[in-house]
Amino acid sequence: MYKIALLPGDGIGPEIIPQAVRVLQAVGEKYNRQFALQTALIGGAAYDATGHPLPEETLAVCRNSDAVLLGAVGGPKWDNLAPELRPERGALLPLRKKLGLYANLRPAVVNPALATASTLKEDIVAGLDILIIRELTGGLYFGQKHRQDLPGGGQKAVETLEYTTHEVARVARLGFEMARRRRKKLTSVDKANVLESSRLWREVVESLAGEYPDVELSHMYVDNCAMQLVRNPKQFDVLITENMFGDILTDLASQLTGSIGMLPSASLGGEVALYEPIHGSAPDIAGQNLANPIATILSAAMMLRISFGLEDEAAAVERAVNKVLQQGYRTGDIMQPGKTRLGTVEMTDAVISALGQDA
Ligand code: NAD
Ligand code: IPM
Ligand code: MN
Repeated sequence: MYKIALLPGDGIGPEIIPQAVRVLQAVGEKYNRQFALQTALIGGAAYDATGHPLPEETLAVCRNSDAVLLGAVGGPKWDNLAPELRPERGALLPLRKKLGLYANLRPAVVNPALATASTLKEDIVAGLDILIIRELTGGLYFGQKHRQDLPGGGQKAVETLEYTTHEVARVARLGFEMARRRRKKLTSVDKANVLESSRLWREVVESLAGEYPDVELSHMYVDNCAMQLVRNPKQFDVLITENMFGDILTDLASQLTGSIGMLPSASLGGEVALYEPIHGSAPDIAGQNLANPIATILSAAMMLRISFGLEDEAAAVERAVNKVLQQGYRTGDIMQPGKTRLGTVEMTDAVISALGQDA
């Protein structure tokens, strides 16, 4: 019995999480696995119901589970609340921090059927398989923050970008380990020509390189990296980077795969891991059965593999996704001429049907 906490959240969250759950149930039936699901409130939905975006009860449900599957949080309705009550700063960031999830794995893999779906040329993206590891509980997001009124009028707003040796070393080690299991190339992305935190980051990464002689380590400035990801993304294997750099670079990388609706993620480092698509609550398409459920379904597959060690089950879900894309089924975000357009629920139906036919 695997215990999963479900946190649908806001916007398209409550549409995509039930779809991933249907896929989990289908794969569970096929392989005779039982999942115990417990749903809890987070984000704007939690604020509306309880007055706080991250209720204690939600944290307890997560801590009492073997893994957490999250949709997305936030939306215009809650944008002007006090910072600690806003879904992003009051719920998602504290949840990651409290669960100790310092490493966020964001694989950007181009599905063969979608090599022509990217806005980039096919030969640039075809066969792409990179892993961006985003530091998730430090950096600019978690530094000091304050505002002050200036005597002459106006205000000053301050954020600090802080990292310790320990914080860099643990995520760097994971980067080396992951690279070792892949194509053995690690690119550490920083802004060491300007930022002191990046100088420390680079020194710490460099100091570990001797322990991984089989991994080819290189360093790249984040501005160049953004450009290189568009120019020639296949030069990379594993990348490690600071929290906010990773946030920005992974949205960019998602577009190489065709859509942000395709990119799953796993946040690791604590007792219980958290899985979520990298996209947000997509208020512009919420409630219309338009969201691509694949990023969430693939996040559930990452959960099966990483948290539960269910490799066959994870691979079966990934094969089913591959198959429906190959069959020409598309949600609006990855729609192409001559293909069949499906809604959120119908795309999931297709995945479940492919899973049923899988050998
Ligand atoms: P977003 O990722 O929600 O949406 C960006 C664009 O991508 C939109 O046009 C949206 O329709 C599209 N999109 C996103 N996911 C899609 C999917 N599964 N299928 C099809 N299209 C999809 O980013 P945003 O608009 O900048 O932010 C909206 C809200 O989400 C904000 O409140 C933001 O803070 C929040 N957010 C939350 C998370 C999270 O919970 N992890 C992540 C990012 C943004
Ligand atoms: C993400 C999101 C979040 C982040 C926001 C909503 C706080 O953009 O998960 O990528 O920046 O980490
Ligand atoms: Mn983001």
